[in-house]
Amino acid sequence: MQKVYFDSAATTQLRPEVIDKMTLVLREDYGNPSSTHGFGRSAKNHIEQARKNIAKYLGVKASEIIFTSGGTEADNLALNSAVRDLGVEHIITSKVEHHAVLHTVQEIQTQTNISVSYVNITSDGSIDYEHLKKLLVTSSVKTLVSLMHVNNEIGTILDIEKVGSLCSAEGVLFHSDMVQSIGHLDVNLSELNVDFTAVSAHKFHGPKGVGFAYIKKNSGLKPLIYGGEQERGYRGGTEGVHNIAGMDEALRLAYEHMTEEKAYISNLKQYFVDQLRDQIDGVKFNANCCDLSHSTYTLINVCLPISQEKAGILLFQLDIKGIACSKGSACQSGSSKGSHVLTEILSEEDMLKPSIRFSFSKYNTKEEVDYVIGVLKEFMEN
Ligand SMILES: Cc1ncc(COP(=O)(O)O)c(C=O)c1O
Repeated sequence: MQKVYFDSAATTQLRPEVIDKMTLVLREDYGNPSSTHGFGRSAKNHIEQARKNIAKYLGVKASEIIFTSGGTEADNLALNSAVRDLGVEHIITSKVEHHAVLHTVQEIQTQTNISVSYVNITSDGSIDYEHLKKLLVTSSVKTLVSLMHVNNEIGTILDIEKVGSLCSAEGVLFHSDMVQSIGHLDVNLSELNVDFTAVSAHKFHGPKGVGFAYIKKNSGLKPLIYGGEQERGYRGGTEGVHNIAGMDEALRLAYEHMTEEKAYISNLKQYFVDQLRDQIDGVKFNANCCDLSHSTYTLINVCLPISQEKAGILLFQLDIKGIACSKGSACQSGSSKGSHVLTEILSEEDMLKPSIRFSFSKYNTKEEVDYVIGVLKEFMEN
């Protein structure tokens, strides 16, 4: 059976070079990086080299990179410590953030009574910048803005320069979840007014269970996880050396090949959009995700003109045909909770139809797109 993986926003296939690097480290550099003997020093060397390399790609200082277990932990670190240690009393975020931010903010609010404001979202999935400005200007206590760079469900790209400037003009801290952008977009953090970011390796062909937080120097942020002196006391626990080395290799390759891979995947996305438009009557592109100037080249989120009865079995049918993608929507099967992101932007009528996210990588081909279109057409015609 043909197998097609169109779910790279959920996680990506490892690059072979990453597997080679990780295997080498696992086999040869198994020392504990905190040990002072040669085995330990050799393992430690991978970690510090990775830190230097990653900092260089992102235009920041090595000491500003803290390795974590992934994006969720890095989000938790920044948000929790901002309130606990930096005196933040007001968080401005949006209802289309990833749950790593939304649920963390909700939990902090329950525990501490800070105030939380949600910036309005327009129908194309963007934040309402005028509303953000108003929220910033009227906030009279220490404030942190948390807005993601690229939305993982609908692909909308935040005008991060603009938000950074607005925050800096008002003396407000800015945290941005960059899990879906770093490794895909040429991000230079030194050019952005961002205080904290979260990054995850498995979104750019690196291993799962590893990522990092960028924490601007002298921010005063304190650890989430206490223990040993690893990560200069910022994050206790023996480091996953092979994971960190694999992430370093994955990010190196992402930056090295970014221009050609971006061009290839953008072309594939455009082909997918064109085929859907030509062959599926009534298809809608949620949040203008078909517009490459507004949305990441790595995904589309489409609302399909399928009856409610058939909608419930669509993903199952695609899976049977070997196609992996993600459900992007809602209430078609009574018990399942709908997407909190699409709920913010779709009409009630469109929420009743199935929405699907197809997300891409350099490993996908136009033949795979043709196969998916054929399967979708067959499903809709029968
Ligand atoms: C935007 C965004 N933030 C955070 C995360 C969580 O990252 P991790 O899986 O590394 O914890 C994800 C992963 O799905 C994501 O897409």
